[in-house]
Amino acid sequence: MIIHGGAPLRGSVELSGSKNATLPIMMASALTDEPVTIRNVPRLRDVNTAIELLGGLGVAARWLGEHELELNAHTLSGHEAPYDLVKTMRASFVVLGPLLARAGRARVSTPGGCAIGARPVGLHIAGVRALGARVQLRHGYVEAHAARLAGARIWLDNPSVGATENILMAATLARGRTVIENAAREPEVADLARMLAAMGARISGAGTHVIEIEGVERLHGADHTVIPDRIEAGSLMTAAAATGGEIVISGAPVNDLEAVIVKLREAGVEIETVAGGLRIARPGRLRPIELRTLPYPGFPTDLQAQMMAMLTLADGASVITETIFENRFMHAQELMRMGADIVMKGATAVVRGPSRLSGAPVMATDLRASMGLIVAGLAAENTTSVSRVYHLDRGYEALDRKLAALGASIERAADE
Ligand code: EPZ
Repeated sequence: MIIHGGAPLRGSVELSGSKNATLPIMMASALTDEPVTIRNVPRLRDVNTAIELLGGLGVAARWLGEHELELNAHTLSGHEAPYDLVKTMRASFVVLGPLLARAGRARVSTPGGCAIGARPVGLHIAGVRALGARVQLRHGYVEAHAARLAGARIWLDNPSVGATENILMAATLARGRTVIENAAREPEVADLARMLAAMGARISGAGTHVIEIEGVERLHGADHTVIPDRIEAGSLMTAAAATGGEIVISGAPVNDLEAVIVKLREAGVEIETVAGGLRIARPGRLRPIELRTLPYPGFPTDLQAQMMAMLTLADGASVITETIFENRFMHAQELMRMGADIVMKGATAVVRGPSRLSGAPVMATDLRASMGLIVAGLAAENTTSVSRVYHLDRGYEALDRKLAALGASIERAADE
């Protein structure tokens, strides 16, 4: 992605559907033999990977429109999620719960290492075990069996998003009641629960610490519209703020963005709700802040890189602590190559501003790190080229087109 920085973003932009809500919702289609329609599906590489994964299990996918996807697991025939797919997209692992619940068995590759941290799946496995599955780890695969799962009380050591989703899906068809305590409260979990409820599942408490599921005999087809992507919204907000621009994000999920709005306001960004969305402007200088990533409703780790890029421009020292993933500062080195002053010690980074960012060739290491580099490139002097754009394409729909429509000079190099 080649960016000629310096142009303040102006205009209005529409959000796509949430990637992290869409992926588990797609996996939920395997829980029923009736077709499900999912609307507001973002066109992303990860969505294509999920279609491929489901296709390998016999689930038919059909696009009904640009963002409407029909999935039909009537012909579910497989029970294996192969290494090749799981290693490219860890979210594949949440197919474990639906497969086990519907087919009585699942063989899902463990995901292996990840650029941003270890990201173990022990809580997912302990969860399905608690529901009565026999689980073995063999040849890099989790092999699980259960004639029918049985409801249980499950306490998560850590409010893991993926583990909550896996257990939630598995429990919908279990015999009796399941209670997930210390569940993830992320809006994407609540959206998945809405989809499952539309399919006939009996769930209460999704979006809170305690989710209760009363298992049912079978689930049916449903029509569900995915929530807007709060992380895309936050990314565009930091880009507007970094460039000193003014944008309106239509369809922004204001409630899901509370912590982000509080922190951006603290940094001197003006944010107001307007009809159908949010207006973001940065008329003056940015102020330094302290920031800690936390499970929802805390500040999301998926916006830490973008905030760091923005804070390189603030008048003073900001302190960022990453508490979710142990290796999620890889963008810092690249930002330093653009002139940022960042010192890291363990889980904390001190960002001293204001830096005069200057364009450079930089390399993306993961999805959100790439977005952080784009934010920096938009605010930097001269030209920045961000390579390994495939990371961005995994999770941001038409990002170059959206930013260009806001006045950015950004284009995709032919060889990417
Ligand atoms: C989800 O990943 C998101 N992915 C991530 O977004 C996001 O960063 C993360 O939640 C945190 O918000 C999807 O929704 C597809 P976790 P997930 O399990 O579910 C520990 C992006 O860029 N843990 O909530 O994998 C884990 O190590 C991606 O869109 C265990 O210890 O995250 C981490 O420290 C990146 N044992 C913490 O929990 C387990 O069994 C939170 O991870 C599972 C997790």
